Amino acid sequence: MKVDLYEKIWMWGVTGMLVLFFGSMANGALTANRHPPSHVETIDPMAVMKDPRFATQGVRVDADGRVHAWIIGLTFTWLPAEMTLPADTPITFHVTAVDVTHGFHIVRTNGQTMVLPGYISQFTTQFAAGEYLVACNEYCGIGHHNMAGKLVVVPAAEWSAPGSAAVAPGPDAVVVVAGEEAGHEGH
Ligand code: CUA
Repeated sequence: MKVDLYEKIWMWGVTGMLVLFFGSMANGALTANRHPPSHVETIDPMAVMKDPRFATQGVRVDADGRVHAWIIGLTFTWLPAEMTLPADTPITFHVTAVDVTHGFHIVRTNGQTMVLPGYISQFTTQFAAGEYLVACNEYCGIGHHNMAGKLVVVPAAEWSAPGSAAVAPGPDAVVVVAGEEAGHEGH
């Protein structure tokens, strides 16, 4: 089969680009843990505030001890606008919108999802300690550029779930554990 020189150049060019784009995507998935939010869960956008899942927004710990963040996007703010989270702990974000499409973007992390009325976007990620800016990255109206939030990530040992008493053991508990180890375990 005879293929023109220019046609060959274009074919190899296109092949090279496909390899480059796919390689870039695979690299992001494997080295930076970037994945599409793939969970499909729906909600009545007119009743988000009354929905038990979102009636109180913010951080909750489930029965298995996993940390969840429930967030509502509305023009032009995130509810809650600020959250304190434990470092190096998987956190599952559940984000929905009550009005128009927003973009929940935790800047300089792999945490990012489009937020659509009627759907709950979900992703799980974890952070090193520090402060993170949450920006809206879908144009949503005149106040879009002001739609920002903040995540304060503290070392897990310093974090306690909202609504629960401090869980760090007191000095007495440490003494008892040390005594048990020395006295009964014998190693
Ligand atoms: Cu919300 Cu842009």
